Amino acid sequence: MKLEILDPDEWAPIVGARLVAFLPAGRRRRICLATGSTPEPAYAVFAAGGGALDDTEVFLLDEFMLPEGDPGRCDEMLSRALLDLCPAPPRALHTFDVSATSLDAECRRYEERLATRGLDLAILGLGGNGHIGMNEPGTSADSPTRVVELHMATRQNAARYGATSPPERGVTVGMRSLLAAAEIWLLVTGEHKAAILKQVLTEPVGSDLPASYLRYHPNTTVIVDKPAARNL
Ligand code: GLP
Repeated sequence: MKLEILDPDEWAPIVGARLVAFLPAGRRRRICLATGSTPEPAYAVFAAGGGALDDTEVFLLDEFMLPEGDPGRCDEMLSRALLDLCPAPPRALHTFDVSATSLDAECRRYEERLATRGLDLAILGLGGNGHIGMNEPGTSADSPTRVVELHMATRQNAARYGATSPPERGVTVGMRSLLAAAEIWLLVTGEHKAAILKQVLTEPVGSDLPASYLRYHPNTTVIVDKPAARNL
């Protein structure tokens, strides 16, 4: 695992430009994208810097069990933070149908699509309790894409994204598919993430801190700003 510590002013320009470079025209990349507040400034730099998704297959990382169109949903956040800012839609966009009659079947369908050709890159954020996507503490490293019960802090956090009511459940790409990605960028910013980031990087790898599994991944870069790196 590589660790990069950047000045807060440089963080978004560097991550955004790196994503532009990762998605050159003509290359059919497959990427999994987190939403939430952390990646938003980098996505904005990507779009403003001429980044295009026309040749890219995008998989949304997770979704809250909220009604279609709810502003707190991850698909809505991804549209606001990235897709609406790009000149053209992605080559393909995979999102979860959380209104499906069988959510288990929906998760299997998503997992099969992920497995078709794997992921070239997963861009992930870090939850305040060490979660990745909605892989909450207690998750095993080989967890599949599935329905999950959200921890209280994660439910309450959804209000920050504009959710009209706190979602009790969600669906998430599992650790198994994420750890199979060719490359992972774990994005962490802000002093409020300093304590959990230190735990994730220094405490024993295990299900108490799902983000710690990334330490066993051969090509993960943790890209943090200085306030988040305060305790390192
Ligand atoms: C949320 C999302 C994750 C996100 C993480 C961090 O619960 N499920 O996908 O990466 O927590 O969110 P933020 O970047 O807003 O701190």
